[in-house]
This record gives sequence, C-alpha cells and structure tokens, in this order.
Amino acid sequence: MRQANIQLDAEGRLKHFLGIEGLSRDLLTQILDNAERFAPVGDRAVKKVPLLRGKTVVNLFFEPSTRTRTTFDLAAKRLSADVLNLNIESSSAKKGESLADTLRNLEAMQCDMFVVRHQTSGAAAYIASQVAPHISVVNGGDGRHEHPTQAMLDCFTIRRLKKRFEDLTVAIVGDVAHSRVARSEIHALKILGVPEVRVVGPRTLIPPQIEAMGVKVFHRFDEGIADADVVIMLRLQQERMQSALLPSAHEYFRVYGLTEKRLKLAAKDAIVMHPGPINRGVEIDSAVADGLQSVILQQVTNGIAVRMAVMSMVMGTQAVGSAA
Ligand code: NCD
Repeated sequence: MRQANIQLDAEGRLKHFLGIEGLSRDLLTQILDNAERFAPVGDRAVKKVPLLRGKTVVNLFFEPSTRTRTTFDLAAKRLSADVLNLNIESSSAKKGESLADTLRNLEAMQCDMFVVRHQTSGAAAYIASQVAPHISVVNGGDGRHEHPTQAMLDCFTIRRLKKRFEDLTVAIVGDVAHSRVARSEIHALKILGVPEVRVVGPRTLIPPQIEAMGVKVFHRFDEGIADADVVIMLRLQQERMQSALLPSAHEYFRVYGLTEKRLKLAAKDAIVMHPGPINRGVEIDSAVADGLQSVILQQVTNGIAVRMAVMSMVMGTQAVGSAA
C-alpha cells in the first residue's frame, strides 16, 4: 500500500490526497463531515473563510478541465489562499523544460500546494514524491487511475440525499475501463459501506477482473439499473480510446444511453449523477440530464465544499466548529 503511506503523515493525518484506495472509513467520513461545515460558506454574501490565508496554491493542469480546475480555484479562493493557475499550454513545459525543473521553480516561489491533473496514471504520486516536505499535492485526476475529489463529492452528494450508505444499491454505467472517476468511486463507496456497487456496460468498456474490487458486473443495462438507488453515468471517453471499441455513438445511446423509460426501472426515488462533461444523446438523454431526478449541478456545487475540506485538511487547518 505504497500510496496510502505516502498520503498520510506519521500521525495518520492527510498530507497529500492522491487516491481513495487504502484510506480508512474514518478519514473519508471526516472529509465528508468537514465538507458539510464548509458548504454554507457558498451561500453567504461574503464567501470566504481565512483558513488558508497566506498560503499559495498552484493549479497544475496538464489536461483540459472545466469543472475540476475552476472548482479547485474557487475552493482555494474561498479559503483565502493565493492561487496560481498555470496554463501548461503556454508554460515553459512547451519549451522543453522537464517536469522536475518546473516543480523546482514553483518551489522556489514558495508555493504550499500543488493541485495536479495529468494524463499519466501515477503522475500526482510521482510529484508528491519529488516535492519539498512542506508541500502538499492533491490529485485532480491522473490518467485512468484515480480522481479522488470527484469520488468524494459524489459520496457527499449521495450522503446528503440518501442519508445512509449501508442501504444503497449504486450502479455505475458506461465507460468504466477508461474512467478514473469509476475507480475512485468504487473504492470510496465500498469503504463507506455501500453493500451493492454495480458496474454496467459493454464487455469492451468493463475491465477484466473488476469483480476483485467488490463490484457486480452487468452487461445488460436494464438488469444493471433495476431498483438502483443511485445511477452514476460516465462519459464515453472517446479521447482515451485507443481502438474502435464501439460501433458508433448512436448505437451506444441505443443500448447504454439513459432515457426516461430506462430510468423507470431504477428505484422510484433514484438519483441520477454524472461527473461531467456530459455528452447529451450519447450516454444520457437531455430529458434525464435536465430532469427532476438529476443532481448533476448539485454535484458541481458540492465539489467546492469538498475541495475546501480536502485542501484545508492537507494543510493541517481543517474546519472545526465555527472556524468555517
Ligand atoms: C472527469 C475526468 O476528467 O476525469 N470529469 C471531471 O473531472 N469532472 C470525467 C470525464 O472526463 O469524463
């Protein structure tokens, strides 16, 4: 469990947030509880608390992102940190500077935290192993590996709406093979005590041996969604597909698209989630994405509170009582 060790300090507190795998139920619950304390900050006229005043956070995004980058940015600003958004496309990385040299220079600017998104699995852990001891690294998504803050904001949304994890059936539907969100989510839901986590999709998009993660595999959508309390749709990640794994987007929608008719097979009060960006008419019908059971935009709002919780925890300034 190399990853679990490098994330925690000697006292077992979160130092980096690189992946869900190997973390304890207590720690995940603490993140959710802290996020609950931060959530009201977003509803105030002055959306700020002073917990990270004087700290400098660098958003290092090597891959495109809208929600994740902007909500990390907002979360850091609401904690009163100074934030640098490094645009890799126009940075010296394009002039041949190595990642290690870019990091050394950011360290020389006395930064305190790196939020990293990278196309390579393991990139955030690599950076965490390279940086000066006072710096914390938060993974904003690495390759197909993990996207831990997305999993936590999804669990936060589920807990708010469904109260208890112990009674739930959660179906994760679609391109599981290319999805770091799915991997982090499966770990988080299992650790938090969800008894039935299902993955649903065509054989080409479900990794072999995924049952070892404690999930049930379904290839027929109608069976996989039956009586589910939570339906998490994944984007069809066309940019990560190395070969033609599917006949066409149109055919995919016919077999695996979430329509109002299909959603009726889930539990009556089921919620529909999606990490975004959504592909309307590919994995999800607009009527469902914009429908009453969709909580997709609540996920976005909740992402800010969850990222505030994680950032304050890795900096050792977590919210206690009235601090938030
Ligand atoms: C996800 C990602 O980039 O991993 N999106 C996100 O962070 N909200 C999922 C995706 O791109 O499909």
